[in-house]
Amino acid sequence: MRVLVTGGAGFIGSHFVRRLVAGGDDVVVLDKLTYAGNPANLEGTGVDLVVGDIADPEAVERAGKGCEAVVNFAAETHVDRSILGPQEFVHTDVLGTMTLLEWARANDARYVQVSTDEVYGDLEAGGRALEDDPLRPSSPYSAAKAGGDLQVLAYVRTYGVRASITRGANTFGPNQYPEKLVPLFATNALEGEPLPVYGDGKQVREWLHAEDHCAGIELVLREGAPGEIYNIGGEDHENLEVTHRILELTGADPSLIRHVEDRAGHDRRYALDDGKLRALGWAPGHSFGEGGLPETVEWYTANRAWWEPIKSGEYRRYYEEQYAERLRA
Ligand code: NAD
Ligand code: DAU
Repeated sequence: MRVLVTGGAGFIGSHFVRRLVAGGDDVVVLDKLTYAGNPANLEGTGVDLVVGDIADPEAVERAGKGCEAVVNFAAETHVDRSILGPQEFVHTDVLGTMTLLEWARANDARYVQVSTDEVYGDLEAGGRALEDDPLRPSSPYSAAKAGGDLQVLAYVRTYGVRASITRGANTFGPNQYPEKLVPLFATNALEGEPLPVYGDGKQVREWLHAEDHCAGIELVLREGAPGEIYNIGGEDHENLEVTHRILELTGADPSLIRHVEDRAGHDRRYALDDGKLRALGWAPGHSFGEGGLPETVEWYTANRAWWEPIKSGEYRRYYEEQYAERLRA
């Protein structure tokens, strides 16, 4: 199959590209190369990279030539950045999604939208979100992703586009931009820098390895039903527990932990019921604590050449805006 992978130069998208290439598919990547897009993530794959915006119909048309399917990873993805400025999130995550759906409609292409557990919002202790639960997004990021999901469902119903949605949990693994919890804390610990834990650190996230996330998305691409949504779950852990484990694995001192001002609108807990995808045959291959996190921290330890250049320029300006005041307080 010839597949258009949008956002393929980012974290999860590049894992997906490698997976499809290894399985013999023909892949073309469309990526705007924002701060989070990194051509180095595609090294050795041999895929064509078209640099462009998913909200630009001409770029989509150019990249999509001859493709039978599109898998949309392209998005503005960081909750904290969405709090600082939501505009780009609506542009890419809503308008960009609609532009890709128009292309899929015109070309009768299969469509998979890579969405997130965050669209369900905060969950009470013990509860797990099912695919037809109401959407209650809390942040400008998750609201934009929910907007994208609603566009997808409208295109299925109104125009018959053969689209499915995946909603994945917090993903970790190699090649993740060091603004998210695991790579930020691992690289800060390796540099002896403080680890800024928001609030009491008792928030719960479900942790899913990038390879397992991609296996779920591929299964949905090949066997998922149009109009259906599939949750892809992980392992539940509190942020503080993850933080202490990263300190252990890097050999850094627990005194690096700083409890700082909480994220605005911070969701306490996400949890997915992923029985529907498991019924299609998916099961995760990586445990978080046993192999996944240690191997990931080892990757950041061995690949300073990947992340050190990123932690300069734009990253520094963002870091200053996001953390300087918090860490001083
Ligand atoms: P990322 O931030 O690492 O990568 C996003 C990629 O999209 C980058 O390569 C960027 O250049 C590209 N991009 C951004 N705007 C674009 C535009 N307008 N046109 C073309 N390309 C554009 O993201 P990620 O963490 O790999 O997430 C990929 C997808 O998975 C996103 O849709 C995200 O919402 C979803 N998701 C992520 C997680 C997670 O924990 N990381 C969990 C569930 C779902
Ligand atoms: O749940 C899926 C989502 O996971 C994806 O849709 C998003 O694209 C992805 O960014 C991620 O969102 P989170 O907000 O959950 O991830 P983040 O790594 O930013 O934060 C994880 C938890 O750690 C969250 O409770 C906030 C906390 N945190 C994060 C950072 C960056 C801190 O305590 N300190 C920090 O500096």
